[in-house]
Amino acid sequence: MKTIFEKNKNLNSKPFFCGEIEFNNRITPLNLPNTTELEVMRHYKELSDRNFCIEKGFYPLGSCTMKYNPRVNEVVARYEDFLNLHPMQNDLDCQGALELMYDLEQALKIITGMDAITLQPCAGAHGEFCAMNIVKKYFENDKKRKKVIIPDNAHGTNPMSAKMNGFECVEIKSDEQGGVDFDELKNLIKNNGDEIAAIMMTNPNTLGLFDENILKISELLHQNGSLLYYDGANLNAIMGHTNPRLMGFDIVHLNLHKTFSTPHGGGGPGAGPVGVTKELEKFLPIPRVEFSGERYFRNYQKPYTIGKVSTFCGNFSVFVRAYAYILSMGNNLKNASTDAVLAANYIKEKLKKYFKLPYNRSCMHEFVLSGDIQKEKGVSTLMMAKRLMDSNCHPPTVYFPLIVHEAMMIEPCESETKEVLDNFIQTMIDIANEAEKDPQKFEQYPLSTPVLKADETLAARHLNTKYEFNN
Ligand SMILES: Cc1ncc(COP(=O)(O)O)c(C=O)c1O
Repeated sequence: MKTIFEKNKNLNSKPFFCGEIEFNNRITPLNLPNTTELEVMRHYKELSDRNFCIEKGFYPLGSCTMKYNPRVNEVVARYEDFLNLHPMQNDLDCQGALELMYDLEQALKIITGMDAITLQPCAGAHGEFCAMNIVKKYFENDKKRKKVIIPDNAHGTNPMSAKMNGFECVEIKSDEQGGVDFDELKNLIKNNGDEIAAIMMTNPNTLGLFDENILKISELLHQNGSLLYYDGANLNAIMGHTNPRLMGFDIVHLNLHKTFSTPHGGGGPGAGPVGVTKELEKFLPIPRVEFSGERYFRNYQKPYTIGKVSTFCGNFSVFVRAYAYILSMGNNLKNASTDAVLAANYIKEKLKKYFKLPYNRSCMHEFVLSGDIQKEKGVSTLMMAKRLMDSNCHPPTVYFPLIVHEAMMIEPCESETKEVLDNFIQTMIDIANEAEKDPQKFEQYPLSTPVLKADETLAARHLNTKYEFNN
């Protein structure tokens, strides 16, 4: 496919010049492509057609919750009155928007069990950073508490968020059940307890497994004076069944752009709200959205706040989608989690005869297989992922979590039919059989994608994303 520059009808003619405007720093005119509007439309339509998306096929990308986001929530987010709002508007002029944010906070309080919520952070990692900043502020006068415990299967953003707040990360191993090794944790607390500020946990974790020791863990940490932080990016597994507060967590972040109806990935807007217990509420970022009994307002007068973490209140359109989703789902949020967990267990049980299953127990919304059996035949997990792309299926997350060799992390979500799940299962079984009988075939895949077998090492080492003009 030609680039938009190659479609330029007059490549050798004088480049298009943007009118009379004088650019202070520009000495040559902008080299913009000179094509018709229709050609531009066709160009971008063709590009978008080459993209794989949930509307085209199954997207079991583990840890990403690529579920169907009802279109009605997109419609609501595009209401003109929301679109035309300006964040500098006077509070009295945007009562509806403030009310929506206030009500969304109340809903998230119920779902997470926390006492207060800020919607401000604009991504999961941003929410983590904000949460760990609150932990840092909480221990401001306890200079010794500089360490944060992080399980070896944590999402990579966890250690980064701790480190960026000046904490030292202490890794803790997983036990054979895939949970935190409780004996190791007890030793750590026994020997270094007065240095431990917090533990950062995801439950269910990135293996898709629920840590059944969670109450013992929270008791141990609280007795030690430490805080428990919950990475709530996997909330799709537990909504309405339990919540981080019941597990003993003090502070939590959520990914609205996974669980609550905004597509995840692609660099689009996100929201990573942070919820806290009463004890930590005073540290939340400003402004807080509050209700006086008569009107909603943004309150900046919070002496203990960590300050601002976004320019304004966060990504408002994501709040609208989440709010519409929560209202329309109501108690069915619980069923969404039930179905997500059921779908994952269904696939896991059907595939465990064909692939190695490192943790053979009930999973939550996702599970992790290993491609070790196929690797012995020369077929790596990456090769199988490429083969899946020829079956109108997005590959699962591969090579993560790092503790599983040749990992394939599969998250089907609640929104797929049994027929789709069965097709996927059959494709995976075909792949396992083909790897057994005809491993050389995997050298050629994928055969049907816009970009065929790419030299990934070359692409990674010499990334070239700019068009080279002749002159
Ligand atoms: C478990 C977990 N934690 C944190 C994050 C970070 O979220 P974000 O990509 O929005 O920064 C993710 C992202 O998918 C995740 O899966």
